[in-house]
Amino acid sequence: MTDRELVQRAFEMHQYSYVPYSKFPVGAALLHKDGRVFTGCNVENAAYGSTICAERTALVKAVSEGCTQGWTAIAIAGTGADFCWPCGACRQMLYEFAPGLRVLAARGDGAFEEAALSDLLPRGFGPASLA
Ligand code: THU
Repeated sequence: MTDRELVQRAFEMHQYSYVPYSKFPVGAALLHKDGRVFTGCNVENAAYGSTICAERTALVKAVSEGCTQGWTAIAIAGTGADFCWPCGACRQMLYEFAPGLRVLAARGDGAFEEAALSDLLPRGFGPASLA
């Protein structure tokens, strides 16, 4: 799976985004080294703070299917003019399972940029921090 294909999978998730409040659909696609892809979309709620982001939807789908290791990349696709980098809560959740993850952030015109999660969340707090 190429990076472009993973980004495309993220864009395809816009069709399922539940965004009556923000009207800002986001899709995510989490790639495992064995080729599996876990997709997600943002799901909003009338109690706004209960909203879950697309990345965390994909993460929870993977973990709930027993897949907690071997993640290599995540693509996140928004519709805006800026690249859709993950929010702080999503960075933290991803760091728990894949501190070395590659993050691909796409904007509405389809362009995307890459960053390492370790650069997006430097000196992060993870499982090893509890030792
Ligand atoms: N959102 C995501 O799904 N992922 C991000 O990385 C940024 C924000 C969602 C949450 C909310 O439904 C909407 O985008 C506007 O914040």
